[in-house]
Amino acid sequence: MSTVSGKRILVTGGAGTIGSNLVDLLVDRGAAEVVVLDNLVRGRHANLAAALPSGRVTLVEGDIRDVDTVRKATEGAELVFHLAAIRITQCAEEPRLANEVLVDGTFNVLEAAVAAGVEKVVASSSASVYGLAETFPTDERHHPYNNDTFYGAAKAFNEGMLRSFHAMYGLDYVALRYFNVYGPRMDIHGLYTEVLIRWMERIENGEPPLILGDGNQTMDFVDVRDIARANLLAAESELTDEVFNVASATETSLKELAQALLEAMDRPDLAPVHGPARAVNGVTRRLADVSAARERLGFTAEIDLRTGLRDLVRWWRAERAADAEAVAR
Ligand SMILES: NC(=O)c1ccc[n+]([C@@H]2O[C@H](COP(=O)([O-])OP(=O)(O)OC[C@H]3O[C@@H](n4cnc5c(N)ncnc54)[C@H](O)[C@@H]3O)[C@@H](O)[C@H]2O)c1
Repeated sequence: MSTVSGKRILVTGGAGTIGSNLVDLLVDRGAAEVVVLDNLVRGRHANLAAALPSGRVTLVEGDIRDVDTVRKATEGAELVFHLAAIRITQCAEEPRLANEVLVDGTFNVLEAAVAAGVEKVVASSSASVYGLAETFPTDERHHPYNNDTFYGAAKAFNEGMLRSFHAMYGLDYVALRYFNVYGPRMDIHGLYTEVLIRWMERIENGEPPLILGDGNQTMDFVDVRDIARANLLAAESELTDEVFNVASATETSLKELAQALLEAMDRPDLAPVHGPARAVNGVTRRLADVSAARERLGFTAEIDLRTGLRDLVRWWRAERAADAEAVAR
């Protein structure tokens, strides 16, 4: 086991949802210096409010599409966590931008990591590489040919790029395929707000959550703080050239999610309503086999959905209150 303590670390996308939770954890575990490279298209200064006062975190407002910016930010880094990316929906709307950020940007990060002699890269992949899986629970050996999204294709190519950099240059890496991530610091302001945020807004206004479709679609939800911990374990392990599912291994339907959220918001009286289904990516079921992560990384998700949703609601209410206060001032 190596450790992040005393290390100089680059986190791309570190002002985002997962990245900022990871930065908090790295500071907590004694990282000497954490450079966050983020162009703030979705990330926020406020996400780093807890970490910046440590004096060990620097935010570089820059773009992973810019070769020089990436090279400078990577100089002296011993570890790189690569999280910067745009969302699946934006990738579908702007595939050229997706190619520039997820593909060329990732190439820039890996090239700079080799040049800087980085010990290891921990990269964010996604369950999207599977598309709608054929077997459940889905393990890492499942083929990627059911994916038909540009985002999933780019993530699969990222994994291939990592393997090739390992083969060509000996760059050590672990890639993590996150399933459905939720939790504090989810984007509540952006264009691509998640279903949970929309539902929280409705429930807070006394309206029932609106489920698009029959609500039988399932997901494998995992709290963002568990995701951050998986990143840490991947960095600290001796493993390289490996990919792991990161999930709770619990299947939750949208109907069950709506019910759980109503309970978390103390409004079990509001029965969910249904609207016309909206085609997003055709994935109707997700359930991960997490035995590899458990046995080899020592990772098991610890925050159950009930606890995670309560924390999400608490955070979201505080954000709303702060926003309202700022408007009133
Ligand atoms: N949230 C999920 O459910 C989920 C699931 C699977 C994989 N992932 C992956 O995890 C990683 C982190 O996701 P997240 O949920 O924290 O998303 P996020 O949008 O909150 O964070 C991504 C960050 O990258 C930054 N960014 C975007 N384009 C950039 C660019 N060109 N240069 C520099 N910074 C840029 C954004 O400003 C943002 O802060 C991503 O790679 C994402 O694809 C997320």
